[in-house]
Amino acid sequence: MTTCSAPGKVYLFGEHAVVYGEPAVPCAIERRARVTAEPREDGRVRVEAADLSLDGFTVTWGDGTDDHPDIDAPTPLVEAGMGYVNEAVEQARDAADAPEVGFDVTVESDIPLGAGLGSSAAVVAAGIDAGTRSLGVELPPEEIADRAYRAEYEVQDGQASRADTFCSTMGGAVRVEGADCRTIDAPELPLVVGYDGGAGDTGKLVAGVRALRDEYEFAADTVAAIGDVVREGTEVLREADPDGEADPDLLAELGRLMNFDHGLLSALGVSSRSLDAMVWAARDADAHGAKLTGAGGGGCIVALDETGGTETALDYTPGCERSFRAELATEGVRVEEP
Ligand code: MEV
Repeated sequence: MTTCSAPGKVYLFGEHAVVYGEPAVPCAIERRARVTAEPREDGRVRVEAADLSLDGFTVTWGDGTDDHPDIDAPTPLVEAGMGYVNEAVEQARDAADAPEVGFDVTVESDIPLGAGLGSSAAVVAAGIDAGTRSLGVELPPEEIADRAYRAEYEVQDGQASRADTFCSTMGGAVRVEGADCRTIDAPELPLVVGYDGGAGDTGKLVAGVRALRDEYEFAADTVAAIGDVVREGTEVLREADPDGEADPDLLAELGRLMNFDHGLLSALGVSSRSLDAMVWAARDADAHGAKLTGAGGGGCIVALDETGGTETALDYTPGCERSFRAELATEGVRVEEP
């Protein structure tokens, strides 16, 4: 039995545009998914998942087609969760050259499903690492990231960039532009997350942006403008002292760029009333900046605020279920129980 974990993430900049080869900067945060894998000889896969929301719930499903998850959560989310685990299992079988092996898999996560915090990438990366290690195979992180990307790509019908999976596997702040994935230095950032308790359908949201981009040149320009914001943001980060806290001028500049990014994402139709309400609550509370994070449609925003103002404001914002401070996770995928 082997347990591995991987962190969730927030996007400082660049979601959606990254799907079209523009750069993006996600940062791993200290909320982790833990996956335990135990090989079984009958070739079957049994998965038990718990705590896949901030409040926690339990999913148990087996390998029979008649099995219904014992769960009070939207079916598409559960099906997506099952899809990610199945693809992680396929990747582990392939990497370990054990196509017939079965697994008992247990997933525990403190990252809400579909809320923009990278739950699926974390589950897939931790699942591939746990699955292969349980068969005595140790993969380098780059290969885990690549296989995790391929797993997400399958589940999301080809609508996935490498950003979520690379960030979750490597940890820290990363910059992804097409297949060029690298970790970057980042100062300590005062990240605050607001969560509306909901979720977005990544596939649908990505498809919506694609349709707009195909139809209107100005939508394609909007996607390209997000890329410009990210390039500017990367320069700002490059000038920061990576070993210290970010200074107020740097935070102000990053915040301004995050606000801009949110406006562009909103123009592309991926924000929502509750995400906008949380973004405005953060801005009214004098956060340096705020934006939705991840695919959008519902879920989470991320703000930059070193004071307690944004958390308090979010707690009083109708539609915000919870707010919390997010620490940068410097470690990516890791072994919890060998
Ligand atoms: C979803 O977390 C981020 C998107 O950019 C999709 C992707 O990069 O795969 C919307």
